[in-house]
Amino acid sequence: MDIITTPSYEALSKEAASYVSRKVQENPHIVLGLATGSTPTGMYEQLIKNHITLGTSYRNVTTFNLDEYVGMSKKNHNSYYAFMEKHLFQHIDIQNEFTFIPDGMSDPQKECGLYEEKLRKHGPIDLQILGLGANGHIGFNEPGTPFCSRTHVVELTDSTRKANSRFFKGIEDVPTHAITMGIDSIVNAKEILLLVSGAIKKEAFEKLLYGDISEDFPASILKKHPCVKILADQSALDTS
Ligand code: GLP
Repeated sequence: MDIITTPSYEALSKEAASYVSRKVQENPHIVLGLATGSTPTGMYEQLIKNHITLGTSYRNVTTFNLDEYVGMSKKNHNSYYAFMEKHLFQHIDIQNEFTFIPDGMSDPQKECGLYEEKLRKHGPIDLQILGLGANGHIGFNEPGTPFCSRTHVVELTDSTRKANSRFFKGIEDVPTHAITMGIDSIVNAKEILLLVSGAIKKEAFEKLLYGDISEDFPASILKKHPCVKILADQSALDTS
């Protein structure tokens, strides 16, 4: 794993965006794997700036999002569909038919099969962006998820629902289930860019760097991947 530390979240976001923009310019037909959550929003903001100032075009880019809440309609502002529209898609020249996000309103099991079909048809993912859950989850693959898992329905842990309740009125409004790309679907990407920011991730980051490879800590699978770049900001590293 190639680890780069940055002094601030802003620097992390700029570094991540210039890396992704460069990849898109080198390969205009790139397939990107995208993540939601607070961590990548700064990168998306910078990607939009790069689109405007450098003319980075997404016309031929395909994207796959990691996950979506079960029962969440696209119109709900807490859906990951709405998140992606707000933070990236509506600001760039990407084509709707090539932005794939699991549909939270479809039959969840059927949707998982369909999503895997789409990954087979339009993949593999060239560059997968990932955030890190405080309990080591990637996508919504909670601790204990088999490393061989493909897109599946998960019951969210209380800690993940609590962490994500900051976007909702309260924890009772956070869905109990989600559809997520599985760990094997994620590591099938040719390259992975993991973003780690904030003191809340310090423990998880330490575990990733120094802990064992175990299904109890989903992100640890990344140590087996041949091409992982980690961008971490100072607050995720601070020892105080
Ligand atoms: C969520 C998402 C993940 C994300 C993680 C960390 O549960 N499903 O894809 O990486 O939590 O989120 P944040 O970046 O907000 O800390």
